[in-house]
Amino acid sequence: MKAKKKVVTSGDVRITAYKPTARTKRRETVRAIKSAIVPITPVSPAAQRARIETGGAAVADLGTTPVGRPTLAERAALDRIDVSVDLAPARGLRLPNPIMVASGTFGYGVEYGEVVDVQKLGGICCKGTTLRPRIGNPPPRVTETPGGMLNSIGLQNPGVAAVIEKYGPIWQGWDVPVIVNVAGESIDDYVEVVRRLDGLPGVAGIELNISCPNVGKGGLQFAIDRDAARSVTAAVRRATELPLLVKLSPNVADVRPIAKAIEDAGADAICAINTLSGLAVSPDRTRAFLGNTFGGLSGPAIKPVALRVVYEVAQVVSIPIIGIGGVTSLDDVLDFMACGAVAVQIGTAIFADPELPVHLADELRSECLRRGLESYRPLVGTALPKRAGAPSVKGVEYRP
Ligand SMILES: Cc1cc2nc3c(=O)[nH]c(=O)nc-3n(C[C@H](O)[C@H](O)[C@H](O)COP(=O)(O)O)c2cc1C
Repeated sequence: MKAKKKVVTSGDVRITAYKPTARTKRRETVRAIKSAIVPITPVSPAAQRARIETGGAAVADLGTTPVGRPTLAERAALDRIDVSVDLAPARGLRLPNPIMVASGTFGYGVEYGEVVDVQKLGGICCKGTTLRPRIGNPPPRVTETPGGMLNSIGLQNPGVAAVIEKYGPIWQGWDVPVIVNVAGESIDDYVEVVRRLDGLPGVAGIELNISCPNVGKGGLQFAIDRDAARSVTAAVRRATELPLLVKLSPNVADVRPIAKAIEDAGADAICAINTLSGLAVSPDRTRAFLGNTFGGLSGPAIKPVALRVVYEVAQVVSIPIIGIGGVTSLDDVLDFMACGAVAVQIGTAIFADPELPVHLADELRSECLRRGLESYRPLVGTALPKRAGAPSVKGVEYRP
């Protein structure tokens, strides 16, 4: 007998749980699904208070006083650790720390001002911005999945002119670098958005979301075609001197030629990865659940895929790589760094804990102190092979 599927719908979010029946209780294969967007390690109220009092330092790692506060000497030692990172040395994009927030999960930064000290973030990638306003996809637009979530927001945003008018003056007063995530359906779209952002005080850089359908190529995504990825990167490069980050899609067989083409076209850094294409079925199984049929999978479920992409890309490019995908803890940050990422972005996990990125930056400092390091740079690339290995397309074999 099958487990009973219980679906709870709340606004845009659908939560699925499996309620064991009398017979399924005896079957070990039926388990309740653990929600992906709750903190992996629950923090007790006492520990949380201690975190706040210590400015977010990882109490356990510091050999702290009984009340959980680092001593003055420990605080000074933590402050001496250099966690800054140059993403575009020639163009002056230096992050105060390598923990950024991912596009689409932190709005334009201002929305979180009440709950997070945004100035402590390494950088903010704002919601995808297009030339004209977009209302996004029909609902439902999100649903929870085992180990993650699916979203099909559809780049809802007010358009670049409104973004500049509303948020430009606020960003101008911030120390934290704000990187505008740019999307478009044609190269001209991308170039025009970037031209308008070029030189705008408060805009520290551009992150190109190239996982968009290219109308000129019959809807084929820029991110899955090497030549299209090269063309859009080169065109934007010609249009601006702003630091240029380009975000890879994992939805390709071999990501390496695409990453190389993006580097050759003048990108300053590569972000990896965007969401994986996925699908959920409606509760009555008569249709796809999401209004847009397909959605992008994110959260802990995609971390191994993201690590694989970072690992492969790190072996073919020499520009900085920013790892994205399922980061919820310091261990995840360190895994991405070991595979060659110099910085990471936190996305889905922010919905459960908006302060997580700030805590992770502090925990990274504590980890360096614990290991006797002055910076985290020795932790980057430690898992990479000495010589470039076989690509995953060749390395993954099915052997029954
Ligand atoms: C609700 C939602 C909206 C997103 N919107 C964008 C977007 O506008 N532009 C973009 O490049 N990526 C967008 N992403 C992808 C994230 O920036 C990130 O690449 C992805 O979620 C993987 O990271 P995570 O597993 O930490 O969430 C979005 C993700 C989510 C969950």
